[in-house]
Amino acid sequence: MTSIDPKAPGKGAATDLSADGSAAFSVTESERQVGDLQKQELDEKFMREALKLAEAGRFSARPNPVVGCVLVQFDPAAGYSPKGTIVGRGSHLKAGGPHAEVHALAAAGSRARGSTAYVTLEPCAHFGRTPPCCDALIRAGVKRVVIASHDPNPQVSGEGVRRLEAAGVEVTSGVLAADADALNTGFLRTISGGLPLVTLKVAMSLDGRVAMQSGESQWITGEAARSDVQTLRASAGAIITGSGTVLADDPRLSVRAVEGLSAEQIAELPPALIVVVDRRGTSFTPDLNLLKGRSKLWWVVAPDHLAKVQLAVDEAGCTGQVTVMPDLGLCELLVALAKRADVRDVLVEAGSGLSSSFLSEGLVDQLVIYQAPMLLGASARPCFNAEISSLSEAICLGSPKVEQVGADLKISYTLSTS
Ligand SMILES: NC(=O)c1ccc[n+]([C@@H]2O[C@H](COP(=O)([O-])OP(=O)(O)OC[C@H]3O[C@@H](n4cnc5c(N)ncnc54)[C@H](OP(=O)(O)O)[C@@H]3O)[C@@H](O)[C@H]2O)c1
Repeated sequence: MTSIDPKAPGKGAATDLSADGSAAFSVTESERQVGDLQKQELDEKFMREALKLAEAGRFSARPNPVVGCVLVQFDPAAGYSPKGTIVGRGSHLKAGGPHAEVHALAAAGSRARGSTAYVTLEPCAHFGRTPPCCDALIRAGVKRVVIASHDPNPQVSGEGVRRLEAAGVEVTSGVLAADADALNTGFLRTISGGLPLVTLKVAMSLDGRVAMQSGESQWITGEAARSDVQTLRASAGAIITGSGTVLADDPRLSVRAVEGLSAEQIAELPPALIVVVDRRGTSFTPDLNLLKGRSKLWWVVAPDHLAKVQLAVDEAGCTGQVTVMPDLGLCELLVALAKRADVRDVLVEAGSGLSSSFLSEGLVDQLVIYQAPMLLGASARPCFNAEISSLSEAICLGSPKVEQVGADLKISYTLSTS
């Protein structure tokens, strides 16, 4: 990539004015276009750095979005590379903790003055658990702010940009916006649509079976696939399972290992809320593995069975850990998770009964299938148990992304466009 030398005649318009404001030399239209192109390339290069930093909060920042920030100096007269020198880096790692911009400003210190900030999400403009980041950038003397994603949070939504511009800071928005949006799909979807992003995970045989007729299902897939599932769990604010799975498997649904994270880091991750959909109120017992972890639980039962299950929860001494909720439908459950528990990403890990309901009701955004090289035969339980009588009623999934995980295939479908 060619560098921008703001001092060299004909290489850029930014510093080409003499002290009285008149042009020191003439810049042709094509030279200006080359300058713009170089600026765009540099913007994308440094935004990519900020996106990498954002990923550091992937498992820990929820319910907040992940955000990365780099501060870059471009002034050769001050000893910096005209191609840009990074003077501060920051990631948002924890809800309630400093935002990415604050970390980057602290790292840069006085070198932040006159720099360009590359931020993957519009800087916040409100007092939440931390003060507004746009004010911190203004106070530090940042000259230009380049933003990837717009923040639809009504408390920000354009206000961050307005505040920066009102203070005389140049703002460029939308640089690598699609890449930044992809890091925060659940957050953006929940804030703008009210529903969290739902990922349904299914482990099945090559002939589409998820359990034997007896209920036995451990294990269809291999160890590599099962440890990959831990990463899905670590990304979820809530994990939904069903009573059939609780009764058959007594799962823990815990996160025990995630590539790149130490045991200490895993222990500090915010635990996912566990939701058991138990329409008939048959699966709560005090000795369940689900009760042994740090997670809070929602136990969802039909209104007729509320009192019975609440009594069992109270008698087990689990009132502080388990909230018994009325079953008002799966869509309403998702709305409640977003509204009452700040959940942005949901993982459904259930048997064919509940999984099929989520699929039939069109509530699944991402379907992740781990397919084992194994045939279980016609009496084993199918992954999808809905009655479909004609091809025109088939649920079409679109093109998959396929990866090999150990001996199994991981086949991922995106069902919604958000
Ligand atoms: N291979 C895999 O990936 C995998 C994963 C998990 C579990 N499994 C296996 O799957 C088997 C259990 O499957 P399962 O189908 O019996 O149970 P399940 O899917 O785990 O749970 C079914 C529960 O969901 C409720 N439910 C279903 N649709 C609903 C809706 N629309 N609204 C409200 N509640 C709804 C059911 O109520 P009703 O009883 O009233 O219908 C029941 O309480 C076990 O053998 C387990 O080992 C396999």
